[in-house]
Amino acid sequence: MTEELERFKAQALSELEAIAETGELEAWRIRHLGRKSPLTGILRGLATLPLEERRRLGAAANELKVFLEESLAQKRQALREAETARLLAAAALDVTLPGRPWPQGGLHITTQIQREVCDIFVAMGFQVAEGPEVEWDYYNFEALNIPKDHPARDMWATLWIDYERDGERPMLLRTHTSPVQIRVMEQTRPPVRVVVPGKVYRYEATDATHEWMFYQIEGLAVDANITMADLKGTLFQFARRLFGPERRVRFRCDYFPFVEPGVDMSIDCFVCGGKGCRLCSESGWIEILGAGMVHPNILRRVGYDPEVYSGFAFGMGLERIAMLRHGIDDIRLFYANDLRFLRQF
Ligand code: DAH
Repeated sequence: MTEELERFKAQALSELEAIAETGELEAWRIRHLGRKSPLTGILRGLATLPLEERRRLGAAANELKVFLEESLAQKRQALREAETARLLAAAALDVTLPGRPWPQGGLHITTQIQREVCDIFVAMGFQVAEGPEVEWDYYNFEALNIPKDHPARDMWATLWIDYERDGERPMLLRTHTSPVQIRVMEQTRPPVRVVVPGKVYRYEATDATHEWMFYQIEGLAVDANITMADLKGTLFQFARRLFGPERRVRFRCDYFPFVEPGVDMSIDCFVCGGKGCRLCSESGWIEILGAGMVHPNILRRVGYDPEVYSGFAFGMGLERIAMLRHGIDDIRLFYANDLRFLRQF
């Protein structure tokens, strides 16, 4: 039997020796080490032999198996090295070539602006909160001091979704991020300082300045002794951080049902410096957000005593900020998924 092993060994080694390509190695392995190879046959037959012989032959056969496996590994390594050397010699493999570029994604322009705006407020002590895009009429309107059938509802062209049958609770796609003001105040006590980024929806025809879905960021600060001076100081600081330290801002009276008094804030036009141009429609000013002092009705509704607490709130569209910043003239470009647009940012 041991002679037989010697013969297998000699045969296997000479065949291995003759192999010139890695592709042939697998066939060799199957022939000499596979399930149907003579060596495996011997190892299987061991059980039927007398103990003494089983020991001797078993040891020898196992040794041969390990030896052949190692020979195979060495041969594979040697062939690979030889192949690489051949390629290098033929200059078919130029190791000095630069690597292939790997396609890398980037953040959408809206996400970039959203993060930048959040960072500015986080640095001023605000937390970031979020709320649902499918919202109850109650949070989107009612709790924000906009009762049913009130003409102020016309300020938001609304996409209605459904009614909860029994209780008649109308459901909609939120038209602004303001409902999250209520959700946050219901969950916490003052002091409150949050910013709320997110998608909002409007039932509107699209054109260069209107989309049916866009992003807003809302802000809310409620505490004892918050005044209009806090509102102005905070938003002034924000405008300078986002649009440059030389920016001037202008506050004017405006109407939003959930604030009293309500304002809008403009920055001086950074294209013409206030002289008047196309960007600012010859006015010298660019409106960027709505804001105001939180209406006492709203504080009362969430259980805050308006004699003790006051607050300011603001809201702005993020695409508009990006459009001003980068000179983008059509909001429809943002979500049309044209890579020629998206790759610019
Ligand atoms: N929610 C308003 C809108 O979508 C924007 C707004 C105005 C938010 C004044 C506010 C605010 O928090 O105080 O048009």
